[in-house]
Amino acid sequence: MLRGRRVLLCVTGGVAAYKSAYLARRLVEAGAMVRVEMTESALEFVGPQTFAAITGEAPFTGLFDAALVSPHTELARWADLVVVAPATAATLGRIANGISDDLVTATVLATTVPVLLAPAMHTEMWEHPATVRNLETLREFGYHLVGPEEGPLAGGDIGLGRVAEPEEIMAAVAGILGGEGQGRRILITAGGTREPVDPVRFLGNRSSGKMGHAIADAAVARGYDVTLVTTADLPVHPAAKVIRVETAEEMFGAVEGIDPEIAIMAAAVADFRPADAAESKIPRADGLSSIQLASTPDILASVVGRVDRPFTVGFAAETGGLDRAREKAGTKGVDLMVYNDVTEPGSGFGTDTNRVAFIDREGEVEELPLLAKREVAERILDRVSAGVGGRG
Ligand code: PMT
Repeated sequence: MLRGRRVLLCVTGGVAAYKSAYLARRLVEAGAMVRVEMTESALEFVGPQTFAAITGEAPFTGLFDAALVSPHTELARWADLVVVAPATAATLGRIANGISDDLVTATVLATTVPVLLAPAMHTEMWEHPATVRNLETLREFGYHLVGPEEGPLAGGDIGLGRVAEPEEIMAAVAGILGGEGQGRRILITAGGTREPVDPVRFLGNRSSGKMGHAIADAAVARGYDVTLVTTADLPVHPAAKVIRVETAEEMFGAVEGIDPEIAIMAAAVADFRPADAAESKIPRADGLSSIQLASTPDILASVVGRVDRPFTVGFAAETGGLDRAREKAGTKGVDLMVYNDVTEPGSGFGTDTNRVAFIDREGEVEELPLLAKREVAERILDRVSAGVGGRG
């Protein structure tokens, strides 16, 4: 259910901390990669060794934890989801007010991924106007909440404030990470193909693979079942299946073996390859006055031409004006074309940003500003989500 998803479990200081050990085990059993943060007060209730044994890694316990240079930002970026369970009244209050004076609150402030809070406290604390106000603020921030429940509390009291049961927290985690993707199969191509001239030289292009890999990362985070066919040696979310290829022919072969519901073709595929690559390095003395070229397969066309065709997004790398991209969108028959002018500074090949325009089947254009490639990826997936929904 959570195969390869990265959950950061933050344990704060309440007696309910013992339940978080079981929650960690349930997350691991569901296939998630789990890392744990513990506050100083949490350490009063449960030993770090318990979590280390369950997750295979010692918990992080302080802002100056020697294992990482900057634990709060590194863990904030690592996670697909941050779960604070139990979340004490003090922790909720600090988060609501932007106070980041321990590892957990600093991580929550530093992260951009969804945050799930599982409050636990005595009924009087839960009902105090300060907590009520803090909860309102946290909801406004877009944080998810699970619980609390009625039941026995610390010290033999009974009332509202008991942390949600691990199974209930698991359901909330699945609801967030399952996301809109719901395990739908998505194929993404990335990087520039290399067409060999001889064993040393190739015809290639400037694509780094950053755009396609950003889409793969964003798609995993939205709960898609991602297959990435890529020429690039770049990191990608461990939950993505990765097929590494080099040439257009190899990319075509890999794509032929995949049956996606959605295809996003961000790769820069060579349209031509040397017709006969030499088997050994061509010596300079031999000279090479020309290279005979042969066409490569049109991978996008083969995907669009399938009987049970996926919702297909093509990319158009152009060097001036939208018109050619609009024409290409029509001839390629894609559901959505992503146009980028690769001559514009900060856009296209190798950059961390991109400025794109979407062209839909009706030829309607939506132009976006210059954005980080990850943000462009999110916008593409928003359009895919709306388009797939519209298809029924
Ligand atoms: O990788 P980065 O450095 O991050 O750069 C990103 C990018 C500029 C490569 C990317 O944003 C982009 O524009 N990718 C498509 C580049 C391209 O080859 O465009 P094209 O206009 O030549 O091809 C049109 C579409 O057909 C593309 O979806 C391409 O993947 C596909 N195609 C092209 C030729 C071919 N033989 N098979 C294909 O599937």
